[in-house]
Amino acid sequence: MGAYIVKENLNAVILAAGKGTRMKSKKHKVLHELCGKPMIHYILDTLEDMGTSQTLMVIGHLGETLEEALAGVVTFVNQKEQLGTAHAVMQTEEYLQGKDGITLVLNGDHPLFTKETLQSLIQIHIQKEAAATVLTAELADPTGYGRVIRQADGSVSRIVEHKDASNEERAVREINTGTYCFHNQKLFEALKLVNNNNAQGEYYLPDVIAILQEQGEIIAASMMEDEKEAMGVNDRVQLADAEAYMQQRIMRKHMINGVTIHQPSTVNIEADVEIDSDTEIFSGSSLKGNTKIGSGCIIGPEADLQDVVVADQSKIRYSVIEDSEIGSKVTVGPYAYIRPNSSLAENTKVGAFVDLKNAQIGKGSKVSHLAYVGDSEVGQNVNIACGAVTVNYDGFSKHKTIIKDGAFIGCNTNLVAPVTVEKNGYVAAGSTITDDVPAEAFAIARQRQVTKEDYVPKLRKKINRHNSL
Ligand code: UD1
Ligand code: CA
Repeated sequence: MGAYIVKENLNAVILAAGKGTRMKSKKHKVLHELCGKPMIHYILDTLEDMGTSQTLMVIGHLGETLEEALAGVVTFVNQKEQLGTAHAVMQTEEYLQGKDGITLVLNGDHPLFTKETLQSLIQIHIQKEAAATVLTAELADPTGYGRVIRQADGSVSRIVEHKDASNEERAVREINTGTYCFHNQKLFEALKLVNNNNAQGEYYLPDVIAILQEQGEIIAASMMEDEKEAMGVNDRVQLADAEAYMQQRIMRKHMINGVTIHQPSTVNIEADVEIDSDTEIFSGSSLKGNTKIGSGCIIGPEADLQDVVVADQSKIRYSVIEDSEIGSKVTVGPYAYIRPNSSLAENTKVGAFVDLKNAQIGKGSKVSHLAYVGDSEVGQNVNIACGAVTVNYDGFSKHKTIIKDGAFIGCNTNLVAPVTVEKNGYVAAGSTITDDVPAEAFAIARQRQVTKEDYVPKLRKKINRHNSL
């Protein structure tokens, strides 16, 4: 696209002072999430990607919450009374008035615009040497939006709000998306001329278009290819629609990158998740937060991963994993629960009904079924058998269990922490271990079996006598 944009000259103004009444929420509208990410972050990430020299956000209602959530990310400008979108932009005067360059104005509640769409808006603006360029879309149902009114030669003459429009104007299906590119100095000159003689008694930003047009300036329009991108969020129905659209976009990105997603309508992948090629995602899976998956993995059915890093060729089925690291060629599940701060080195296996918490499991070790391993450091090639439990909590505080390389922990054992099983230590099934087990030692801690020969007939008699009483 060439050097059509000089970074120093691109300013962005995001309008977010409105009440967002229809969300019926105590949370600011733009902090509501789409695919795990507040909607305002989609806009901010896109602007960052484009490289704006300055991003200003006009805030009012619930502004403090935005200042807190986005501290250091944008420059905030307060609009004390919400007198309209032109009035909102006017509040940025102290930062922008008299500056050279382009000002991009966006609504905080339109999170779906791509970088490409905004770049082509700017490109058209520069090519046409326009004073203002409007991003427009053609909608099947344009109700509620401002309509783009063009002259006989096709050039834009003005924008009329739905409430102010005649029947003829309402029949126009090309709408104002609320996203514009302005010649900065001309914008601020024109803003001074906007009045509030309209149906809503507000100072409308789109009126700047007619003002500039009447001054003989060039007005351009950039029509969006995919009108769904223009979707705004005013209530929770639109929030769900926008999320569904964003989810599709995320899925497509992964598919194009070489990831197979089976039954995608049942899968949830949040915005910042990364997945390498030749991994397959199966139904009902949910990949969230900063989850990163390597290549050649099988994820799902029903894998629920929050902030999990998985290396290549691992297999995770019907399991919940949080804030943990999974190495390569690892098998998890079905039905494992891996809680925060756990790590599984390569070639480990964590099987059915195993609960791990803050547990480091070394290469090639196995916890195949029905075990709890918490606050533990487990070495390489350790076998933790069915029903083994690390007793990490004494009712007051948590203690650590250390199991070194090659150890064998038999079925149904309790390892009462703090305790260490040294290298190749062997714990017999059914033991409750309270003392450290030295290297190469065998530890057994259970009652010896008593076997009474020919005792069953006697027992039978005894029981019969008891029952006849
Ligand atoms: C606006 C446009 C309309 C366009 C539509 C696209 C105007 C007058 N109309 O209508 O042409 O089709 O967007 O969605 O601009 N805001 C402030 N301060 C205010 C008023 C609004 O910051 O005083 C913010 C709101 O928080 C919102 C944005 O500006 O993010 C748009 O305002 P809103 O009242 O929702 O305008 P629309 O009626 O949607
Ligand atoms: Ca709106």
